[in-house]
Amino acid sequence: MKGVILAGGLGTRLEPLTRVTNKPLLPIYDRPMIYYPIQCLLNAGIDEILIVTGGEHAGDFLKLLGNGKRLNVKDLHYTYQEGEGGIADALKLAEDFAENGRICVILGDNIIERDICEPVRAFKEQPSGAKLLLKEVPDPQRFGVARIEDGRLIEIIEKPAEPASNLAVTGIYMYDSDVFAIADTLAPSTRGELEITDVNNAYLARGDLTYDILEGWWTDSGTFQSLHKANCLVVAGGANRVSTSATPMAHGAAAGA
Ligand code: G1P
Repeated sequence: MKGVILAGGLGTRLEPLTRVTNKPLLPIYDRPMIYYPIQCLLNAGIDEILIVTGGEHAGDFLKLLGNGKRLNVKDLHYTYQEGEGGIADALKLAEDFAENGRICVILGDNIIERDICEPVRAFKEQPSGAKLLLKEVPDPQRFGVARIEDGRLIEIIEKPAEPASNLAVTGIYMYDSDVFAIADTLAPSTRGELEITDVNNAYLARGDLTYDILEGWWTDSGTFQSLHKANCLVVAGGANRVSTSATPMAHGAAAGA
């Protein structure tokens, strides 16, 4: 399975920081934000990675990551999202890279404490469809929220004013190759974007969507509050971080941690 990191968008919620660089290049403690989703993929044994970037500072990704070898990425690819079409629009750019295979998608501002080895393994055994990772949060109205009844996922609602649960849909998604055909059917939401929640609800309508609850902490870092929280969590220890030492970290080294 290949990995896709969605690192486009203008990061307007982090103005003025994002006037001079892209959000996923901002620091989380001692490393750029994007190192964390890269490490998350590497820990799950995924080392062919596409970064979908955008905005005015896209060239900075190349300066930072180069061909990825220093970070242990076997094959690092880049593409560029024009405009502000949303997460599902950015995902469309991964179609050729995916080569009809399955992909694990992570948003460039999502940071986790542990690893996703077990859900990735389970998804590989799933005959088709998609898998989401959910996490209990204190502020579900900021996210896509899962409505679950008797353990069954019934619906995902994007940023509901009155959330049906405290289970946020994290920005870690696993898809089969149908995801691109589904993304092509979407219409822009009221905020003018193609929503990843609409992709997920399309899989749900087909009865082909599973979920796991993510273990360990999870946070996004796209607002000042969550950026601060991400820094605090990482400083307190626990997050899987790209090794910047001369000795590269082995793939899967953090599995089961
Ligand atoms: C996006 C998704 C949302 C998801 C969140 C996770 O929100 O639309 O469903 O819960 O990422 O980080 P955004 O960061 O674009 O507001």
